[in-house]
Amino acid sequence: MALFKQELAIDLGTANTVIWKDGKIVLDEPSIIAFEAVTMNKVAIGRPAQMIEEHNNPRIFTIRPLMNGVIADYDAAEKMPESFIINALGGKRRLFHPALKIVIGIPGGSTPVDMRSIRDSSAHAGAHDLFMIYEPMASAIGVGIDVLQPNGNMIVDIGGGTTEIAVISLGGIVESSSIHIAGNELTTDIVDYLAQQYNINIGRTTAEQIKCNIGSVLTKLPAEEEPTPFNVVGKNLVTAHPAEAAITYDEISRCIDKTITKIESEIHKVLQRTPPELYSNIVQNDIWLAGGGSLLRGIAQRFSEKVNIQFRVAEDPLKAVVRGTAKALCESETAPYLMR
Ligand SMILES: Nc1ncnc2c1ncn2[C@@H]1O[C@H](COP(=O)(O)OP(=O)(O)OP(=O)(O)O)[C@@H](O)[C@H]1O
Ligand SMILES: [Mg+2]
Repeated sequence: MALFKQELAIDLGTANTVIWKDGKIVLDEPSIIAFEAVTMNKVAIGRPAQMIEEHNNPRIFTIRPLMNGVIADYDAAEKMPESFIINALGGKRRLFHPALKIVIGIPGGSTPVDMRSIRDSSAHAGAHDLFMIYEPMASAIGVGIDVLQPNGNMIVDIGGGTTEIAVISLGGIVESSSIHIAGNELTTDIVDYLAQQYNINIGRTTAEQIKCNIGSVLTKLPAEEEPTPFNVVGKNLVTAHPAEAAITYDEISRCIDKTITKIESEIHKVLQRTPPELYSNIVQNDIWLAGGGSLLRGIAQRFSEKVNIQFRVAEDPLKAVVRGTAKALCESETAPYLMR
């Protein structure tokens, strides 16, 4: 009955979980869950759990259960989506929703055990009908590609834990790669750089702020696009005195260069394996970039120059997967790219 029908589209990302319901995003939270150390009771999820993570409470520990794009901690991995689903439905747990339908994006590298865990947590949250979709497919749909056409398209989604690269045609993934080199790795590069270059010890939250504020993959940006240097205050690794530095975007581009090059070489490998007809389509259609990593300054330009094919950044790239998942939800009875 339409009155009771509830439908959710979910992007369960390693960094962020986004849930879409009734035509809009109803939840957008970091993928973190906090437990009380002694009782193992869940104490917080999402943003409040992130606050706890940043402030090191010895009685509470936090987990990012999907840290590397596949499930790292099965107990937490089940609790987290279950709690997010319940929150998206208004916070009340029901044993059974007569018509709760869920479409959930899963990483390209998911194992049958990962899929089982997602099935279990959706069932605990009361889902009656569950479909899964590979994230690069959802991302492609979300950027507006007509994935059912006999036409090759390439999507590169740089998330927190994984970079998904896929060639899509006729509603299927023809070639792909899912690597654990993405935003988290870039954040680590920045932490290491500050330690080596300035002897400053900074936390991952600060490093992520630097990346999101002044991150660039080009050492020279046009003058009007140059961000102002980022002032960091941290602890001197030797003296433990407060230490300050003004970090510039070109320093960041140099310190993340190694990681960006690894992503480029993976794109190359997937292109090498791509059948020639689809390759020509990709050259004509451009390559789409999505995920939080695609917000780095100059990324489309750098990749275009390296690969010799034009790259384009999707509109609102952090929401590409959830948009595609939501679209798949509307077509769930017929879509060939959905799995049960
Ligand atoms: N403006 C920005 N510049 C650079 N990186 C950014 C920016 N905004 C967000 N990010 C990074 O993007 C990543 C999160 O992106 P996204 O939400 O697409 O990942 P996810 O879907 O949760 O992860 P995954 O797809 O790996 O499961 C984080 O590493 C974050 O630091
Ligand atoms: Mg993602």
